[in-house]
Amino acid sequence: MGDFAHVFETPPPGAAADWTIPQNWEAYTEVEHQTWVSLYERQMKVLPGRACDAFMKGLDQLDLHGQGIPDFARINEALEKLTGWTVVAVPGLVPDDVFFDHLANRRFPAGQFIRLPDQLDYIQEPDVFHDVFGHVPMLCDPVFADYMQAYGQGGARAQSLGMLKNLARLYWYTVEFGLMETPEGLRIYGAGIVSSKTESIFCLEDPSPNRLGFDLERVMRTLYRIDDFQQVYFVIPSLEALLEETTRDFGGVYERLKGTEDLPIETVLPTDKVYTRGTQAYAAAGGRFALRRVG
Ligand code: PHE
Ligand code: CO
Repeated sequence: MGDFAHVFETPPPGAAADWTIPQNWEAYTEVEHQTWVSLYERQMKVLPGRACDAFMKGLDQLDLHGQGIPDFARINEALEKLTGWTVVAVPGLVPDDVFFDHLANRRFPAGQFIRLPDQLDYIQEPDVFHDVFGHVPMLCDPVFADYMQAYGQGGARAQSLGMLKNLARLYWYTVEFGLMETPEGLRIYGAGIVSSKTESIFCLEDPSPNRLGFDLERVMRTLYRIDDFQQVYFVIPSLEALLEETTRDFGGVYERLKGTEDLPIETVLPTDKVYTRGTQAYAAAGGRFALRRVG
């Protein structure tokens, strides 16, 4: 999304005008397949009981087994039948307008490369594990599938209105870091969480972050950081509620947002529905870097 520095301004050599490249599945090395398997196996130890049903069901439907980096052609056969979505390979982050155009046409651009074996815990640029394991299972859900397409259409509009910064926050706090309320308790649906072992646990169990009810305009005012665990998560009542809330015309929303201040991450408003008020202890300790310090 818009907050990363783009590596390229125009499609790099070998990429089509829409920035897609062949996945070239045959060329992945054993080490690369093994990286997928390690990440997959780690996640399967933490996700049951933490990820929402739609995510777990999507994993099954796509047969995203732990045998290595999946062939997009194989995924697409199942995915296209389910919701009309396909996965396309891209070299890395693509410009916003290209990204929105793919989503609006039910194509999910996924990084072709996989992280190096010493980067299992964190990489800044989304790789095939984050993009495919994290995002694609949710695209098997018909409601979420509609939401992502609508987001792509809304992206072009937000860009023309100069409101992309606000719309990007909606993506961040739903598609990447969203939590959902269920009768069994809070569950994860955000791709940035389900592709991270440590954040899958942190987001539900750590006392540090605030967990607040989703409110469209509130979320669009809230700053975020890309390089550490979130200190606020927003909880949707259901995917249907999310779709309904975002299907309305954002014209009035954008007008109001122009007259409001951005909210710091740790803000709790009197109007917020508070699931848990966090201690913010993790952020106060300096975040992941402080916790790594020894002694
Ligand atoms: N309803 C939004 C608009 O009018 C588009 C949108 C839908 C944006 C879903 C995000 C998610 O601009
Ligand atoms: Co992502």
